[in-house]
Amino acid sequence: MNNSIHRIILNEYEAKQKSAYDRVQLKKDHVYKKIPRIEEIDREIQLTGIKYNKAILLGTEPTEKVIDELLVKLESLKKEKEQLLLEFSFPANYLEPEFECKSCKDTGFIETASGLEICSCYRQNYINLLFSQSNIKLLDEENFSHFNESLFPDKIDEKKYGIKISPRENILKIRERALSFIENLDNPEEKNLFFSGPTGVGKTFMINCIAAELLKRGKTVLYQTAPVLFKTINDYRLMTLKDNITDDTGYSNIFSVELLIIDDLGTESPTAARYAELLNILTTRQKNNLSAPCKTIISTNIGINKLHEYYDERVASRIIGGFDLFRFAGEDIRMLKKIAQN
Ligand SMILES: Nc1ncnc2c1ncn2[C@@H]1O[C@H](COP(=O)(O)OP(=O)(O)OP(=O)(O)O)[C@@H](O)[C@H]1O
Ligand SMILES: [Mg+2]
Ligand SMILES: [Zn+2]
Repeated sequence: MNNSIHRIILNEYEAKQKSAYDRVQLKKDHVYKKIPRIEEIDREIQLTGIKYNKAILLGTEPTEKVIDELLVKLESLKKEKEQLLLEFSFPANYLEPEFECKSCKDTGFIETASGLEICSCYRQNYINLLFSQSNIKLLDEENFSHFNESLFPDKIDEKKYGIKISPRENILKIRERALSFIENLDNPEEKNLFFSGPTGVGKTFMINCIAAELLKRGKTVLYQTAPVLFKTINDYRLMTLKDNITDDTGYSNIFSVELLIIDDLGTESPTAARYAELLNILTTRQKNNLSAPCKTIISTNIGINKLHEYYDERVASRIIGGFDLFRFAGEDIRMLKKIAQN
């Protein structure tokens, strides 16, 4: 799991606990004024604990006897306190802290017989944060449950669509491959995915389906369009030049995140420096992938055989060697939707 995300979550838990205890303090101030005996009881509870702790440490009396006495004493104080609260028409648990998660008391962890375990609320927080950090905003709409192959023509027309099978058969094949990509993310042998094709034929949709599924499984995913990716790198370079790096997570994620998505490759402004950066990203990620999942999906309007014209030969061969290439084809679904609306 991702360390910076853990830090964020643990800080959130601390803040939640603090606010739960702050609320208790406010209520106490109020109750103590109304029922001074309760302040006494709280103090007695504290002192009882201390007193019996001492007795146990000093060993002046048998431990079991001390603990039994302690429990009886605490129980009677607690009863008296609850009784008083009820008499003054407060709920009996009025002075107990109210945690968002009752199982872990907003610590994120649960004590079990076999040690500390991660609470389910922690996992959920982790996944939510992954979503929000992934840059993907459409996950509710663009996921496998909304996948609709009937938007893809089922007739074969090689001249029109540029493929030998129907666009529908094609998209179903790509979906199958996408599903096995998800299953095999951890396998270093599993190749990266390269999606090419004209506008509006479902490249970004497929990418979002894959991202949604992996995020649900707790994987780290970073989505960037090529222009944003190169801007992130550029900003980082400028920061290092000026010697004021405050946060390099955005940059370091590019190299270490379990799935990096580069959407719309080829729409960035072309400079030699960018191709060197792209080569650096692809090479580093391929190396990292040998020890931990570090997969990449690229989507572009550039045809596979045009790659050599757009990019440095080394970039092109890195892509052709390390990626499975898929050609998306069909009608422009954005246009289809517009026509259907009118
Ligand atoms: N398999 C699918 N099932 C349902 N809707 C889809 C599917 N594929 C694409 N769409 C819808 O079609 C529209 C265009 O798809 P998408 O944005 O993925 O195209 P694209 O290939 O990424 O285009 P561009 O090259 O312009 O980025 C979107 O509104 C998307 O929600
Ligand atoms: Mg797109
Ligand atoms: Zn919890």
